[in-house]
Amino acid sequence: MRSVTFDADSRTWLLRTPATSYALRLDADDVPVHLYWGPVLTLEQAASLPSGARRVSSFDGGGARDELVTEAGARFHTPSLQIAFPGGVRGVDWRFKAYEADGGHLVLRFADAHEPLELELHYRVYDDGDVIERWTRLVCQVPVTLLRCDSAAWSVPMRDGYRLSHVAGDWGAENQLVRADLTTAETTLTSRRGMTSHAANPWVMLDAGDATERHGEVWSGALAWSGSWRITVTRDPAGRAGWTGGFGHEGLSWRLEPGQEWVTPVFAGLYSAHGYGGASRRWHDYVTKHVLPEPDELRPVIYNSWEAVGFDVGEAGQKELAALAAQVGTELFVMDDAWFGGRTSDRAGLGDWWPNPERFPGGLAPLIDEVHRLGMRFGLWVEPEMVNPDSDLYRAHPDWVLHQPGRPRTELRNQLVLDLSKPEVADWAHKWLHRLVSEHEIDFLKWDCNRPFTEVADDRAWIGHVRAVYAILDRLRADHPHLRVEACAGGGGRTDLGILARTDQVWTSDNTDAFDRIAIQRGFGQVYPARVMAAWVTDSPNPITHRRTPLAFRFHIAMAGALGIGGDLPRWSPEELEQAAALVAVYKDIRPVVQLGVQHRLPYGVQYAHEDRVVVLAWRGPVRHGTPEPPLRLEGLDPLGRYRDEDTGVLHHGAVLMSGGLPLELPRDEDYASALVRLRREA
Ligand code: GLA
Repeated sequence: MRSVTFDADSRTWLLRTPATSYALRLDADDVPVHLYWGPVLTLEQAASLPSGARRVSSFDGGGARDELVTEAGARFHTPSLQIAFPGGVRGVDWRFKAYEADGGHLVLRFADAHEPLELELHYRVYDDGDVIERWTRLVCQVPVTLLRCDSAAWSVPMRDGYRLSHVAGDWGAENQLVRADLTTAETTLTSRRGMTSHAANPWVMLDAGDATERHGEVWSGALAWSGSWRITVTRDPAGRAGWTGGFGHEGLSWRLEPGQEWVTPVFAGLYSAHGYGGASRRWHDYVTKHVLPEPDELRPVIYNSWEAVGFDVGEAGQKELAALAAQVGTELFVMDDAWFGGRTSDRAGLGDWWPNPERFPGGLAPLIDEVHRLGMRFGLWVEPEMVNPDSDLYRAHPDWVLHQPGRPRTELRNQLVLDLSKPEVADWAHKWLHRLVSEHEIDFLKWDCNRPFTEVADDRAWIGHVRAVYAILDRLRADHPHLRVEACAGGGGRTDLGILARTDQVWTSDNTDAFDRIAIQRGFGQVYPARVMAAWVTDSPNPITHRRTPLAFRFHIAMAGALGIGGDLPRWSPEELEQAAALVAVYKDIRPVVQLGVQHRLPYGVQYAHEDRVVVLAWRGPVRHGTPEPPLRLEGLDPLGRYRDEDTGVLHHGAVLMSGGLPLELPRDEDYASALVRLRREA
């Protein structure tokens, strides 16, 4: 179904995915310009498309629809590629060389008319989905400075208006969905922090202001990068809109030596005609089929000790937690921070990656053996990119951290960033991680990263560090095929397609308040699927918000992702432990539906469908008197199908569930009421 075709007369390429087409053309000056992105077209139809807007006045700059906007000539649009050659020369004078189409992979090769620069635009389409991957490669035979090198510029068709969807947030409040009119301006979403960040996430969606959760055209993009990044969405005065994006933030520059290759991360794009929900489902599908290393594996129910004990970690306490965790049915026990070196608070020990001899006099083996004996897998928290100045590592290698000579070294959470772009530092990190996993029966690492970069002396570190993290993870996974990894950065500060290519799940947020999680998880799910969204049930009142919520409510919200438990189990009553065990058992039953199924966001809940089963999780916050509660209309069912409620035995009709809704009686006088409904389609 996917294909790449070329019309030589009009110099038009047409990329086809199962439900969409994307077309670009070389203009008379050899510049690759965007033509089309939308429902399927034939090559003949694409070739007939007009090449673009006429220049209206001498002030009307070009570039708006270039596949990569450079600074050459009268181009005043947001640049995607800013390249400085020796002698003050800027910009690219495109000369088309050749193209190659191999399966779904199209490469357009260009040179500069004056400088020994080779520039390639890469496109990849798949048979099994509508996401298009794009990236850029360049190499020059004279030294150049790159001020900007985006992966791709994406243009959307002209409409009367545009609406931008993205997420913004903070620590403990990640992924807050923002949906607003796109003003005539350049709107930049960015991270200058060296990591993806809590403040923004590298994806965008544009629609004409008419899309809803269920209907309408949506154009979207997501960048596969875990360091600093920038996406600039532009609506120009002529009414055109699109975005350009890539790694690195404004103001950085990279000097390339002659012959040095520069390859950007993938910037993936998706057109969908089925509303925001349809776009999200296609992204979930893409992440599953083309990003995750182990997509089909069911994620285990995790117990993590962080909220229960903080830095108060020791063999006896961990064993006590492990016994209760096993009792409620968790499958993977993760010991969090403070098991190593002199780490008894956040003030010391990061960098000294050996078991604390006072806390673990016999090393980690006795605890690991006990966890395995209890029938659970064992996981361990690590933070390999960081160091506390109060550590043996820092005393031995004070020059290993990001720092600028003569300037203070800014400490955040009493820690500094190790510069993994230095080969000796990356080598050290890989060696101890490899040894740790080789010498212990460790099944899982929670890889944390608890502060942003500051005082970077060499701009190369912004990219080199991230590539080193990727390389270490890739090597660890290759050498230890059983190892699974959770990405974490103070909660959800490193969630993106780049890290998901080498991890199995993401710690969504340090905020485990179930009510706050509703919004965090809704934003997370715009692009990322439920199977990677780690969600724990913790104590009530919640340690961050002090909110009290029922145990079932906490479970029902965490069950919408990869369920875990993080509560202080020794303080739970026997009844609570019993209820938790029952709910964990229910989760294991619905897990394939939640984790492998198709997700539909509902007004106050979420629906998953997989094979012949449908699961609905519904919830309500504090009661607000007089607020109407519309019925929960299900989606995507067979209208002629009959669906039996597995718990009550009641029979429902697909058509009725989708039009009239699921009869749900959430108690009207109870705050934080919730429900779980399991339906099975009758043969
Ligand atoms: C970060 C993580 C937490 C926990 C602590 C440990 O904040 O997000 O889950 O691991 O670090 O210090």
